[in-house]
Amino acid sequence: MAYNLLKGKRGIITGALDENSIAWKVAEKAYEEGATIVLTNAPIAMRMGEINKLADKTKSVIIPADATNVDDLTNLFTKSQEVLGGKIDFLLHSIGMSVNIRKKIPYTESNYDFFMKGIDVSAMSFHKMLAVAKKLDAISEWGSVVALTYMAAQRVYPFYTDMADIKAMLESIARSFGYHYGVDKKVRINTVSQSPTKTTAGAGIKGFGDFFDFANSIAPLGNATAEDCANYCITLFSDLTRMVTMQNLFHDGGYSTTGVSNEVMEKLGVDSQVL
Ligand SMILES: NC(=O)c1ccc[n+]([C@@H]2O[C@H](COP(=O)([O-])OP(=O)(O)OC[C@H]3O[C@@H](n4cnc5c(N)ncnc54)[C@H](O)[C@@H]3O)[C@@H](O)[C@H]2O)c1
Repeated sequence: MAYNLLKGKRGIITGALDENSIAWKVAEKAYEEGATIVLTNAPIAMRMGEINKLADKTKSVIIPADATNVDDLTNLFTKSQEVLGGKIDFLLHSIGMSVNIRKKIPYTESNYDFFMKGIDVSAMSFHKMLAVAKKLDAISEWGSVVALTYMAAQRVYPFYTDMADIKAMLESIARSFGYHYGVDKKVRINTVSQSPTKTTAGAGIKGFGDFFDFANSIAPLGNATAEDCANYCITLFSDLTRMVTMQNLFHDGGYSTTGVSNEVMEKLGVDSQVL
């Protein structure tokens, strides 16, 4: 069911790789809610061609951009305004990649070139996007920006390796830039800290399947799906949340505030009489 929450709004959505991507679901929902959107991803990701299906479905234009490249980002924001016919009302940063994770390198033995690459792609790209948008004055007043993050920024998940530090940086950029962009243009910037979700980026993490089940049995509501996450992002892009900014918002079925669940205790063999 659609509510026309984004009627007349223009948005840019990064990171839709295939139909499992969280960004894919956000694009579908944004279109259903009345927005017109531009889709973007790294030129290399375009080769898979999946994004064309999403563009057809959402009647959107694709503008490739490597999120680490300021020239690409300048082109993205300039062309998007031309294509959409005005300033951008919402932006989704849904980009994450760690070479250390891909190569299964333990945290304490992190390769620093890979670490730098991970920072550039997954956190600094957010700063670059916001800086380009601000310089071009490409985001409308009261516009809304959301980046996706994970709770390893606050608590240790050993298998998340350097991405934990990188997500902490991403969340900090949302606060710092949120201040400046808020004062200047009333643009609001938040991060959404999402449950483990079965996507290409998620599945690349060692032991992801078991961890997904563990998180699901801790969270009172269970893990939030990509579709749930998309719905939440839509509310943040809408005018109904216009005073929310510089926040890290947990979207995880209650996982982040649950110490332990009876379900997990039972799995550990604790007598249900004492629970
Ligand atoms: N899947 C999870 O469990 C989970 C949980 C919490 C947060 N997140 C975050 O959600 C976001 C989206 O990830 P996803 O799970 O949908 O996986 P995904 O693999 O579908 O999306 C990651 C995207 O990043 C893009 N990307 C990589 N390098 C890029 C570059 N240089 N320029 C532009 N785009 C680039 C990829 O092409 C891909 O589309 C990421 O920030 C991820 O960390 C995921």
